[in-house]
Amino acid sequence: MPNVGVVGVQWGDEGKGKIIDILSDYADIIVRFQGGANAGHTIVAGGKRVILHLIPSGILREGKCCIIGNGVVLDPEVFVHELSELKALGYIKDDKKLMVSGLAHLIMPYHKKLDMLKESRNTKKIGTTGRGIGPAYEDKASRMGIRVIDLFDKKVLTERVKRNLEFKNFVIKKYYKNEGFQARQIVKTYSEYGKILKKYVTDTTAFLHKSIDQNKTILFEGAQGTYLDIDHGTYPYVTSSNTVSGNMASGSGAPPTSVGYILGICKAYTTRVGEGPFPTELFGEDGELMRKIGDEYGATTGRPRRCGWFDAVIVRRAVKTNGIKGLSLMKMDVLDSFEKIKICVKYKIGAKTYAEPPMSVGDYERVEPVYEEIDGWNTSLRGITKYDELPTNAKKYLKRLEELVEARIDIVSTGPERESTILLKTRLYNLRFAFLNS
Ligand code: GDP
Ligand code: IMO
Ligand code: MG
Repeated sequence: MPNVGVVGVQWGDEGKGKIIDILSDYADIIVRFQGGANAGHTIVAGGKRVILHLIPSGILREGKCCIIGNGVVLDPEVFVHELSELKALGYIKDDKKLMVSGLAHLIMPYHKKLDMLKESRNTKKIGTTGRGIGPAYEDKASRMGIRVIDLFDKKVLTERVKRNLEFKNFVIKKYYKNEGFQARQIVKTYSEYGKILKKYVTDTTAFLHKSIDQNKTILFEGAQGTYLDIDHGTYPYVTSSNTVSGNMASGSGAPPTSVGYILGICKAYTTRVGEGPFPTELFGEDGELMRKIGDEYGATTGRPRRCGWFDAVIVRRAVKTNGIKGLSLMKMDVLDSFEKIKICVKYKIGAKTYAEPPMSVGDYERVEPVYEEIDGWNTSLRGITKYDELPTNAKKYLKRLEELVEARIDIVSTGPERESTILLKTRLYNLRFAFLNS
């Protein structure tokens, strides 16, 4: 049954939020399966710009069900804040629209503090978002974590917080020489969060199973991107979860066989925020121009994003790792004014060339990109909604990328707004979404 999964194929911020918002119109359920409030998914609709960190990007659509799955690390402070903002904007009129898995792990105040302290002490910084993601997943793996469901049993919550603080306070006070936490205060604050969360918390796995039986359409919303994946990314410069499509099932409870079509979200160039290797990074005028035109500043931290040319080596590998059936090529309009556009087709280290990304971070840093150059289109693509209206050179760019990354481009994005999108309907044959029949 072809439900749809969406993943980023670069280093995040590819434009997943925009596409998930569009596809949500044709889905019944939208589920986040990993990451946390390190994500920043932007939607521009009806003249408004909404940035979502935790709540799925389907929330702007009426009559949909948005799920925060078990694989997410949930910061209740961010959740409560985002919830009230969305309610104020009128997007959550019915509370049944939102569900939270009781199995999701909680981000605790000490996770955020440890994330910051670790970064400030570390000479080799990762450049994290400071949202406590790494420390929370560490606790999950070491079986120290506290889950959403634990919020509703004060005895359990108190016991778990105390047990954690014995260790965390030791590290924070003795190693980092910083101020520790009091269990009483955390239990009080988190019990209050629990009261707000309560009506959204449910067995989302069972709900997904029932929905599959009822033939409902599910959209899996990935956060981050393939090269931030803890296994397949540029380790250690990665996030702490599996961002690839393989995690859609474990992070939600829906079976792997329920995902039929995987859509890769991909910028027409490359960006990265935070530290780590980036072979096609541009340091001169071209990079500045991309940052300026593309408004490349982090949606979560406001940090300037590093910019560079399209890297076909990483995208081709991501296509294979994620089982991508189609790509959505984003921000084509940002390249409008470039006379020449470069595409990295392979890597070189010394005299040897490589078609696959290296395994070691040291090799990654030594990589020299081998470029192919094509003529730009030198005209505005902004807002184009039909493939036929694209200039010849833009079509040539798309075609060349398809060849290099060995995947079809099913969607092209020509502006941040919902409407600035080319849906290549005939190619989306595998989707059950209604627009196929329109
Ligand atoms: P996400 O994390 O993958 O959802 O992406 P972000 O929201 O962090 O960053 C993508 C940015 O690009 C946002 O500011 C979007 O509004 C913007 N955007 C998305 N698609 C396009 C496009 O086709 N053209 C332009 N100019 N901006 C776009
Ligand atoms: P979306 O979903 C871009 C990056 C951070 C840092 C690394 C580890 O909006 O695409 P973390 O806080 O996760 O421990 O940071 O991962 N990072 C992202 N970069 N987009 C994101 O999410 C990101 N989430 C984390 O900058 O380099
Ligand atoms: Mg983002």
